[in-house]
Amino acid sequence: MVQWSDAERGIITNIFSTLDYNDIGPKALIRCLIVYPWTQRYFASFGNLYNAEAISSNPNVAAHGVRVLHGLDRAVKNMDDIKATYAELSVLHSEKLHVDPDNFRLLADCLTITVAAKMGPAFSPEVQAAWQKFLAVVVSALGKQYH
Ligand code: HEM
Repeated sequence: MVQWSDAERGIITNIFSTLDYNDIGPKALIRCLIVYPWTQRYFASFGNLYNAEAISSNPNVAAHGVRVLHGLDRAVKNMDDIKATYAELSVLHSEKLHVDPDNFRLLADCLTITVAAKMGPAFSPEVQAAWQKFLAVVVSALGKQYH
């Protein structure tokens, strides 16, 4: 089981309590779709993803970015059992959406960059360490139901 120090818990709770979901969620997903264009294939139903400009102004992408962050909320509230918390979401991404689990890390990295850019100097090495540990556990949990 993953162990969290009080400092790590504080950092994660703190980031999420001040995070602007409507800003960070869309920005992270947009970045992922542009930087790693093969991730676009899963979002064919979202309409025009023709170029960076289209991706950046696509309302379905923005809405989904916010939804992903709300998905992360659940991990923050259940830090001691992220694996069980995401069992169903992992099955969905695996069996229904057929998302290659390597992509979870790519989106996580885009999220890190977006949060770092927003927080600036407050994204200290200590904060980054806790944040990346949190996302690594999320990524691992989302990949757990793949066979
Ligand atoms: C749907 C979370 C990564 C593709 C969803 C949903 C959530 C979610 C909460 C909605 C589930 C529902 O409808 O019940 C996450 C989280 C991720 C992640 C927390 C990692 C941090 C990815 C990645 C891809 C992806 C990397 C593809 C590259 C999709 C697709 C849907 C979906 C295609 C369905 C969208 C729709 O048709 O509305 N995800 N996801 N997800 N996710 Fe993810």
